[in-house]
Amino acid sequence: MHRKPVIAANWKLNLSPTDAKAFLQRFLAQVPKLNERTLVFFPSAITLTTVIDGLRERPEIWVGVQNVHSEAQGAFTGENSVLMARDVGARVVLVGHSERRHVFGETDEMTTRKMSLIVQGRLTPLLCVGETLEEREAGRTAEVVERQLTAGLAELDAGQIAQILLAYEPVWAIGTGRTATPADASEIHGVLRQALVSRIGEKAAAGVPILYGGSVNRGNASQLLAASDVDGLLVGGASLDPDSWASIVRA
Ligand code: PGA
Repeated sequence: MHRKPVIAANWKLNLSPTDAKAFLQRFLAQVPKLNERTLVFFPSAITLTTVIDGLRERPEIWVGVQNVHSEAQGAFTGENSVLMARDVGARVVLVGHSERRHVFGETDEMTTRKMSLIVQGRLTPLLCVGETLEEREAGRTAEVVERQLTAGLAELDAGQIAQILLAYEPVWAIGTGRTATPADASEIHGVLRQALVSRIGEKAAAGVPILYGGSVNRGNASQLLAASDVDGLLVGGASLDPDSWASIVRA
């Protein structure tokens, strides 16, 4: 099955609405409509509507949120909900990013709950999994990513699983300048693909894009994208500069 590559920018806690306007002006001038790729921007919640407005003429580009709360609504000061994200026009939600897990203490149980709320809210989750350096050195990479995947998919049926996006982001590669080799990425993407096959069968599993993330830049993007079972890129630091991001999306 053909999987259209998904190239996603995770802006994290960077780029204000004013910065985003200037970014889009410069970026869009360099990147005409790309039919063969799906582009996604993940701005901060405060910058979200500015980016959605800035892309009104480019509906082929998706916008998503970096996080949602694990409850649908209520007394949760500072949080954002799935329905709020959908209401302003977001299509995708990042779940289980390593910074959520390791900086904010997000547990497997929370990712289970978020994944379920997101698909019920008819948005597309982009579930992130990845091992720490310690886990890698202990030979536990496959076990860790399978455990995180199992938690993320726990409340989804086969039809819902077939619609998700998945990202492998080794924690030791995020923001460190240390990238997994294309071979390392392929190996773990293969593990994830098999885990999907066992749940939803070969054909449906082949349609789930598995992105790689962790110190992707304009120098290594095309090599990583060419690796087997790598169906896209999730990019942090190198997505903050419109010129660097434009060259990655064309990689
Ligand atoms: P990085 O971040 O590209 O800056 O390593 C990737 C991510 O956290 O998604």
